[in-house]
Amino acid sequence: MDSNQIRMEDEDNVPRRAVDPSTRVAHDPHDDEHQGAVVMPIYQNSLFTFSTYEEFDRAMTGNGDIPVYSRGHNPTVQQLEVRLAALQGGEKARCFASGMAAISTAIMAHVRSGDHVICVNQAYGPTRELLSVFLTQYGVETTFVDGTSMDAFQAAVRSNTRVMYLESPTTQTFRLQDLRACAELARSIGAVTIIDNTWATPCYQNPFEFGIDLVLHSISKYIGGHSDIIGGVLIGSEETISRINRSEYLLLGGVMTPHSASLTMRGLRTLPLRMEKLEQNGLTVARHLEQLPFVRKVNHPGLASHPQHELAKQQMHGSSSLFSFETDLPPEEMKAWAGRLGYFRIGVSWGGYESLVTVGRSVPGYESIQGSIVRLYIGLEHPQVLIEDIMQASHGLDI
Ligand SMILES: Cc1ncc(COP(=O)(O)O)c(C=O)c1O
Repeated sequence: MDSNQIRMEDEDNVPRRAVDPSTRVAHDPHDDEHQGAVVMPIYQNSLFTFSTYEEFDRAMTGNGDIPVYSRGHNPTVQQLEVRLAALQGGEKARCFASGMAAISTAIMAHVRSGDHVICVNQAYGPTRELLSVFLTQYGVETTFVDGTSMDAFQAAVRSNTRVMYLESPTTQTFRLQDLRACAELARSIGAVTIIDNTWATPCYQNPFEFGIDLVLHSISKYIGGHSDIIGGVLIGSEETISRINRSEYLLLGGVMTPHSASLTMRGLRTLPLRMEKLEQNGLTVARHLEQLPFVRKVNHPGLASHPQHELAKQQMHGSSSLFSFETDLPPEEMKAWAGRLGYFRIGVSWGGYESLVTVGRSVPGYESIQGSIVRLYIGLEHPQVLIEDIMQASHGLDI
C-alpha cells in the first residue's frame, strides 16, 4: 500500500477509504468516541476494576486488549497505538517508554542464545552497543555490515542468522539500505527484518511496502515533535505484535505513560504539516551549505549529489531535516563555529521545533572522514535566518 494512502478504518463497520496523512491525523475515526471531547481524555491510572468476577475473568483470559493494569493496557496509550499503526500502514502497534525500549524488545523477541544478527554498521550507537556488548553476554552474535552493499549483507549470512536490523537512512552519514533487496534476502534465509524508521517518519517511508516485517520509531523525535516526550513504537503484523505483547512487552515492562501518549497524540495532529515545512527548510539550508568553500560534502538523501539519491526517491516520499556535512577543518575549529551560531542550540536529539548542531570526528564504518563531520538539525525557524546565522558564524573560520 502506498504510504500516502492510509487506511481510514479501524473497525469493520467503518467504510474503508484511503486518505492522505494530513487528513488522517486531523480526522481520526476514534475522535468521536469520548462524548464529543476533541482531545481524548487521559486515563491517568494504573488500575482498572470490575464489578463482577465474570468480567474480570474475561479480561484476564482474553487477548489482552481489555485494560486491567496500565503496564499491560491503558486506553490512552491504546488509542495512540491504533493511530500510529494506521498512519504507518501496519496492522498493530505497541508503544514503549523510549525508542531504545522498542529496539531492545524487538530484537530480543527474535533471538535466542546461539543466534546471529546482521546489523547496519552505522546504526544508532546504543543499538550497536546492545548488539555488540549487551547481547553477547547471552550468546547472541552480531555482524555489522556496510548497509549500502547487498554483497556485504549476503556475505554476512550464517545458518543461524535470525534478524536483519536496518536503519535507513542512518543518522550520521545518512546512508540508505535497499529495503526490497534486504527483505528478499532475509525472507530467503528465514530471518526477520526490523527497521528503525525514525528519520523518514510514517509520512515519508513505508517499509511494509517493501516487505519489511517490523517498523520502529523513536517517538522522542519527529512524531513527538516538541522535545518534551521520550517514547518509542513498534509496528508490525497482528500476530507478531500480539506475541511480543504477551512476553517481552509485559516482562521487560518498558511501557509508555498515558501522559506521554496524550502529548504524542497532540504532536501527531501536526506531523504531516511539520514534516512538509521541515523538509523545505532542511533542503534550503543543505543546498546553501553545498556552496560554501569549507564544506567538502553534504550528506542529505534529498540532494541530487547524494550517492543514493535515486534509491531515496524510490523508497521515500520525501526527506526530513537532519543531515550532516563534512569539512577538512578540525573538530576544535568546528566546535568554536557551532558556539558562534545564534539560532542553533548544541544538542544531540532532533525532531523538535528548534535547530541543533553537534560536531564529531568520524563514525564507525566510515573511518575515511578526515577533519570533522557536523550534524545539523534544521527546525521550524525561517531558513533564511538560519542561513544568515551560518554565514556570520563562518566569517571566523580559518579558510
Ligand atoms: C535513529 C535513532 N533511533 C533510536 C533512538 C533511540 O530513541 P530514544 O532516545 O527514544 O530511546 C535515537 C535516539 O537518539 C535515534 O537517533
